[in-house]
Amino acid sequence: MSRSDRHSSPWAVGLWLIAGVAILLAVALWALGKPGKDPVGNAVLTAQVALQDNMDFLRAGPTDGAPDWEAASMVLHDADAEHGASLIEQHGCGSCHVIPGVSRAHGTVGPSLAGFRDRAYVAGVLPNRPGDLVGWLMNPTVHAPNTAMPDLGITEAQGRDMAAYLYTLQGG
Ligand code: HEC
Repeated sequence: MSRSDRHSSPWAVGLWLIAGVAILLAVALWALGKPGKDPVGNAVLTAQVALQDNMDFLRAGPTDGAPDWEAASMVLHDADAEHGASLIEQHGCGSCHVIPGVSRAHGTVGPSLAGFRDRAYVAGVLPNRPGDLVGWLMNPTVHAPNTAMPDLGITEAQGRDMAAYLYTLQGG
């Protein structure tokens, strides 16, 4: 054994001691901890919960808890559906249309507006979107020159309120 080996050995022993104490402390902490305060178990539990959350997220279908953009796209901001219903009544739309929730709306000249929200097109000529629907209500003959639905002088504000009401009509 050389001189230098003998010199380094106290350091090595010291390091082993520190490592040993650290391991003992960790084991003691784990073993002496109450079940609820068991640091190792807690770490495992935390990891399990985090993993479970990720699994739930991955397993969820694309619509689970996700924003419904389809529904959001049918919202007319600052429009008053209730006012729209009374405007629809005042303008006599019901003389040509069946309109659920509007009194005396039993007309059969135009299509029933029941479940209108679920329809793909407005009068078969415009995509059923808020802006296009309002455009139709304001000037049906611009979009379908031969339509039996007359231009009733509806303003944009009135059209927006009416559209808001029509989009409350869902399902068959
Ligand atoms: C004189 C009869 C008449 C009146 C009054 C009338 N409509 Fe119409 N409406 C029609 C006809 C007919 C159609 C079908 C248009 C077409 O396909 O060209 C129609 C189509 C529509 C559509 C599209 C329906 C669909 O399924 O695509 C909406 C919405 C609508 N009308 C709302 C109204 C509202 C709201 C009023 C009142 C402001 C009104 N209508 C007044 C006759 C009328």
